[in-house]
Amino acid sequence: MSTHEERVKWFLNDRFGMFIHWGLYAIPARGEWVRSREKMTIEDYEPFFEEFDPIYYDPKKWARAAKEAGMKYAVMTSKHHDGFCLFDSKLTDYKATNTPAGRDLIKEYVDAFRSEGLKVGFYYSIIDWHHPDYPAYGDRQHPMRDNEDIKDAEKDKDFSRYLEYMHGQVKELVTNYGQIDIMWFDFSYDDMEGEKWEATKLVEMVRSIQPNILIDNRLTLHDKFDLSIPYSGDFASPEQIIPPEGVRDINGNPVPWEACITMNNNWGYASADKDFKSAKQCIRGLVECVSKGGNMLLNVGPDAKGQIPEESLAILADIGKWMKQNGDSIYGCTIADIEKPEWGRFTQRDNKLYAHILDRGIGAIAVDYPRDKIKRARLLSDKSEINIQTPWTSQHYGEATFINFASATLPDDIDTVVEFELMD
Ligand code: GLC
Repeated sequence: MSTHEERVKWFLNDRFGMFIHWGLYAIPARGEWVRSREKMTIEDYEPFFEEFDPIYYDPKKWARAAKEAGMKYAVMTSKHHDGFCLFDSKLTDYKATNTPAGRDLIKEYVDAFRSEGLKVGFYYSIIDWHHPDYPAYGDRQHPMRDNEDIKDAEKDKDFSRYLEYMHGQVKELVTNYGQIDIMWFDFSYDDMEGEKWEATKLVEMVRSIQPNILIDNRLTLHDKFDLSIPYSGDFASPEQIIPPEGVRDINGNPVPWEACITMNNNWGYASADKDFKSAKQCIRGLVECVSKGGNMLLNVGPDAKGQIPEESLAILADIGKWMKQNGDSIYGCTIADIEKPEWGRFTQRDNKLYAHILDRGIGAIAVDYPRDKIKRARLLSDKSEINIQTPWTSQHYGEATFINFASATLPDDIDTVVEFELMD
């Protein structure tokens, strides 16, 4: 088995991935929690199973959109909390093969993303609102949590049967699809955490079949990142936030992390939610993550026909344009040796220091790094020379090096990146 350090190497380099939330909930189109939020019974939800027929599902297109955006890996829902499986599990009938789709949609995803050279991950919900042995009445979020009619039936449930099912499905996922790069479990809550999931056994099984796989930290509660616990996971998964100072384990050491972020306000397709972030926000978010030692997993929620929303495709395309010119300031980069400047952020890879200038300010821009330790400065987008200046008054202001742009506005309003090559 590989060590944690070896396993996370590619992850720390690649920095940017696509999250895909897709399932039956694309039909009601009110997000992936619709069954819980609206307290729908299995029967209420059944029509979506009967009609699920994504005629335009073409994961090659999705993979190309991800690749063009500069993403290097993807994580897709194999099963969400509603229990519906996009993969052909032998352990349930509640799966895509039994819908009009009639086939294993996960297999097609894996093949398509792999052939575009992207790494492949599975999101898998350890919560299951469909399985008869999963706690329902009194559970924190089960759709039937306050349905008095099912209260008495609760005592006949056998959680160990659910665990057997869940472990069995995870085994299928890590056995039947070749190399899997990430297993993204979701999620623990209250006392439903750690060994309640038989997490040590689960992780050992996964790692014995996929020695290099990365596992997220949601088999346990988020505030306990401790690498000595087998199910602690390889990386932290802050959701909808970028931790102000990155993420550290219980001993204070930095750990790999990945902020998962939606483009609008939903993970699963939500037809009325048009509140999309701009490409500029997404790019700046990615830069912020990398400047704090993290990754970004940016979500898309394809619709019932299998189409990624137009708005999301447009954002991805715009991100791609920026990444094509500026990807060197993202891949393999991390927290820089110098502090965050007033006008933006720094990222760094070895002797390359990247200044992400977000605010033009006025006059020359001060970089808090000694002039004689900088070999050269280039605009990353076209490698043109950036004028390093020593204004006659600058000697009064410490060690700062000044750079200037000929224009009053920045060349790239999203994020103008200057690459400094540092002396060895
Ligand atoms: C959650 C939600 C969920 C989403 C996920 C992404 O905890 O339950 O619907 O899949 O986080 O991080």
